Amino acid sequence: MSALSEADEDYVYLLNPIRTERHISAPRTRRKPGLSGPIVTRQPRIKTASFDLSTSSQPDRSQHYTWPINSRGQIVLEEKDYTRARDVLLRLDFATPEVATTGTKRWTDEVAVMAGTPGQWGQRIVGEKVTPKPPGEPGHTPAQSIPNVLDLTSMRKKRKVENAQNRVLLPNASTSDVNVLNGTMIRKKPKPDTLLAELATLIISSLIFGANAEMVSIDIVRQSNEGAKELTGLVGVFVGATSGIGESTVKELFKRTVRPRIYIVGRNADRGNRIVSELRSLNEGGEVIFIQRDVSLLAHVDEVCKEIEQKEKKIHMLFLTAGFMSLRGRNETPEGIDKKMAVNYYSRMRFAINLMPLITAASAASELSRVITVLAAGSEGDIRLDDLELKHNFTLHACLAHCVVMSDFMVEELASRYPGTAFSHSYPGTVKTGIASELSGPVRLAIKVLYSVVAPWILNVQESGERHFFQLTSQAYPAARARAGQRALTWLTA
Ligand SMILES: NC(=O)c1ccc[n+]([C@@H]2O[C@H](COP(=O)([O-])OP(=O)(O)OC[C@H]3O[C@@H](n4cnc5c(N)ncnc54)[C@H](OP(=O)(O)O)[C@@H]3O)[C@@H](O)[C@H]2O)c1
Repeated sequence: MSALSEADEDYVYLLNPIRTERHISAPRTRRKPGLSGPIVTRQPRIKTASFDLSTSSQPDRSQHYTWPINSRGQIVLEEKDYTRARDVLLRLDFATPEVATTGTKRWTDEVAVMAGTPGQWGQRIVGEKVTPKPPGEPGHTPAQSIPNVLDLTSMRKKRKVENAQNRVLLPNASTSDVNVLNGTMIRKKPKPDTLLAELATLIISSLIFGANAEMVSIDIVRQSNEGAKELTGLVGVFVGATSGIGESTVKELFKRTVRPRIYIVGRNADRGNRIVSELRSLNEGGEVIFIQRDVSLLAHVDEVCKEIEQKEKKIHMLFLTAGFMSLRGRNETPEGIDKKMAVNYYSRMRFAINLMPLITAASAASELSRVITVLAAGSEGDIRLDDLELKHNFTLHACLAHCVVMSDFMVEELASRYPGTAFSHSYPGTVKTGIASELSGPVRLAIKVLYSVVAPWILNVQESGERHFFQLTSQAYPAARARAGQRALTWLTA
């Protein structure tokens, strides 16, 4: 009657619960097409409706809840803050105890700041962990031995394919053989023809992300920037300002403030000299020093920092934007670091750490003290804790994910070490700049076409400059423990 195996029959049955003879006797030969392409996790859908949460407006009881008046606490968050707290909570990652702990800590800290209740909040719950006693020891009960009866070490559960996004992969030395087989950890060396696809995915995902990002209204940004004329004698270091985001930001600074003194670090002397003369014409009292250096070498970073340390007593802003686009795989510098990772992350951390004494000297004098690294906050992905430098698992995606996650941790760590200074990891969305200038002609052309198609959704470089200048000077981005009187511009609200 049926040529199907038992398993096949179940399959047919699952497809059509009303199983008929015909279904069984006519097995389907068509196979489901395999899935391909990146797995994009779906973010929880956030309700946008607004509710009146005031205590009095909510009845004691409804068909969904019972909420007696005497059990209600005090409202400590504005509705918009509550909504943000809820949204952030929904997006937290609980994949591993470590990620869950750090995420939860960050969330509780943020809610405490929003509620104006620094330190502990909420309810402390104290419990007791019962450790099962092994058989033969006093206190052992048969019920406690149940897990041992099942002998979990000998059971093999079919591994689920892990959700690849937003997870930190933890090294597991004892099971490294198993990890090799884990779908998320197998990294094929990208073939040249897949690199373009990888690049397109990066650009498109950044466009989608950028389009969805909530930004401060440009009117608020401009009003705040207008007030910057009260800022006099700012000293800044701009690494990567011979072009693009860095250049437009330093120009905004020269347009807006009085007698700034700025160091610009880059490789290209022609562009460096051009920007020096443009800045001088924007602000006659301003001073600009171009330092020609390739910062992919940390030894060069140290040299630049020494040069600055000899001339300055305080630095008010460190703005880090050195970067380039490349389709190459891992490309080691003589110091043994991948060049892209060196420019996007390692050199930036080195600049920050080397210059912290001068940057904290500004905060100690109650003056502006800020460090901003512009990369791709929000595009975090899997990282390999057992291969942070990606010596063995390099892909463009992994490189971006590692630099982004490590930058997050860098600003978190520096902010806790230096609470008088404000640290940001910024992502401005897609900005039309010279970032693709090191790619080959056809790829540059493809990017040019893509830019023209998506022009309405991308940020023009001048607005990027205004926005980053706002980030450098507005009180919307205070240090964790900004000293009273620290000179930053008041955050204008609509
Ligand atoms: N454009 C975007 O859509 C976008 C979006 C999000 C994030 N970002 C990030 O923002 C940063 C700036 O990008 P951008 O668009 O402004 O690019 P850009 O116009 O190409 O500017 C990059 C700057 O980095 C400098 N640079 C590159 N390699 C260097 C090295 N080895 N040593 C010293 N300086 C170096 C370049 O100067 P020289 O050539 O003179 O060395 C240039 O001034 C990058 O990290 C990028 O990933 C860009």
